[in-house]
Amino acid sequence: MNIAYINGEFLPLEKARISAMDRGFLFGDGVYEVVPVFNGKLFRCDQHLARLQRSLEAIQLNLDKPIESLSTIVDSLRERMGAKEQSIYLQITRGPSMERAHVIPDEYTPTIFAYSREIPALNIDDLRQGVTAITAEDIRWQECFIKSINLLPNVLLSTQAKQQGAKEAILLRDGYISECSHSNVFIVEGQDILTPKLDPSILGGITRELVLEIAKTKGMTIKEIRITEQRLRDADEIWITASTSHIAPVIAVDGQAVSQGQAGPLWEQMIHYYQAYKQSL
Ligand code: PDD
Repeated sequence: MNIAYINGEFLPLEKARISAMDRGFLFGDGVYEVVPVFNGKLFRCDQHLARLQRSLEAIQLNLDKPIESLSTIVDSLRERMGAKEQSIYLQITRGPSMERAHVIPDEYTPTIFAYSREIPALNIDDLRQGVTAITAEDIRWQECFIKSINLLPNVLLSTQAKQQGAKEAILLRDGYISECSHSNVFIVEGQDILTPKLDPSILGGITRELVLEIAKTKGMTIKEIRITEQRLRDADEIWITASTSHIAPVIAVDGQAVSQGQAGPLWEQMIHYYQAYKQSL
């Protein structure tokens, strides 16, 4: 059974309810995080909460409690759920308002919703099978550093990928790659690992940050730069990263094989460092 938390109460997920006048429901006026649990422990919860804080500030949503208090909720869900591997979703909206007015109300009570679900443990052999991707125009707004619950473009892009038999859509803005519909992207050229430089139009992924950290610690060459579409198409390897899907090798883009349609050697190195890092915690 998936366990939920809503405004102070823990309950089975299917019993969780919000007002139809919640601004999150009406306007998408809210932000979220997905915090993974690996081997029974919250993974990088502080970093997720710091990013949540940045998202809240960017949309001028004042929480009526310190951000740290949310870690108690997340940790309590982890404990109640009990599974070793979990994905904990945490969403904060500007709460219900009986008047549907676009402008932010002077007073509001945020809705805090979270739930946990069990996920499969990291399996390198499964990941090694790789995923396929399409490229698509990044139709999202300019403020994608905000982890906003307005995910309609991401929903459509992800569906476009699925309809073309692929797992992800690698997004292009003005001829440069940004990220994907629900993950970040890396390419490999020779021994160099490259990822798009952060700017407000990209989400600063926690897994992206970890890959950068690992590469630096292990003396691998990693650069954050602007990457053209052509470099993506010519890349020796392509990886996508996200908290609950880890680091996945992309084996084809728009039907063209990448790295002979197999996971590449730098991915092999990185995934072993990543797994060793997780096991060391
Ligand atoms: N999404 N970019 C986008 C647009 C994302 O939605 C995500 C994650 C990422 C990767 O971020 P992180 O490494 O912190 O998970 C990048 C989550 C998992 C989701 O929407 O479910």
